[in-house]
Amino acid sequence: MSKRLTFADREIDRTLFDADHIHRRILELGAAISRDYEGREIHIVAVLKGSIMVVADLIRAITVPVSVDFIAISSYGPEARQSGSVRLLKDLDESIEGRHVLVVEDVIDTGLTLSYILRTLRARRPASLEIATLLDKPAHRLIDLPIRYVGFTIPDCFVVGYGLDYQQRYRNLPFLATLRGDVLA
Ligand code: IMP
Ligand code: MG
Repeated sequence: MSKRLTFADREIDRTLFDADHIHRRILELGAAISRDYEGREIHIVAVLKGSIMVVADLIRAITVPVSVDFIAISSYGPEARQSGSVRLLKDLDESIEGRHVLVVEDVIDTGLTLSYILRTLRARRPASLEIATLLDKPAHRLIDLPIRYVGFTIPDCFVVGYGLDYQQRYRNLPFLATLRGDVLA
């Protein structure tokens, strides 16, 4: 499974974690989650769209009973983001009351998006509420969040691939890569 795919794109800087590396880490997270939730059923709330790959792989690495729902959030852009102003684009299909909810995110940066999601979910009285994120970028964190499961803690850089996008592109890369600085400038 270690066939190296190459995507010749001038905007990509370098590979951060290749597909095998991500896969191994997801297996570890799935094992830890399965141990922690032994005897309980997990209700996963995946945050669209960035978490599509991680949730698809993670649920296959979890051995306790699992159900999945999706929520979609949009921020109003850089200025509004500072105020934590985000918009619910797609709500959950099912009630989470009394359920053991595990929120699955692709990346947590300032924490504003997730803090909005947590406020919304907490008000619906789940039995428990935990967070799993593929990537943690603590450099610009504005709100302290209790993140239970972290795939990789990374420095402040813009990451694409494995579900993460830059202007809706690159979600299809099977690995995680950084974008060239001048692309973002
Ligand atoms: P936060 O509200 O600042 O924590 O931002 C979280 C959201 O910003 C994520 O769900 C992503 O949509 C986006 N984001 C933050 N950093 C990156 C990145 O490095 N690559 C792609 N999207 C990112
Ligand atoms: Mg996201």
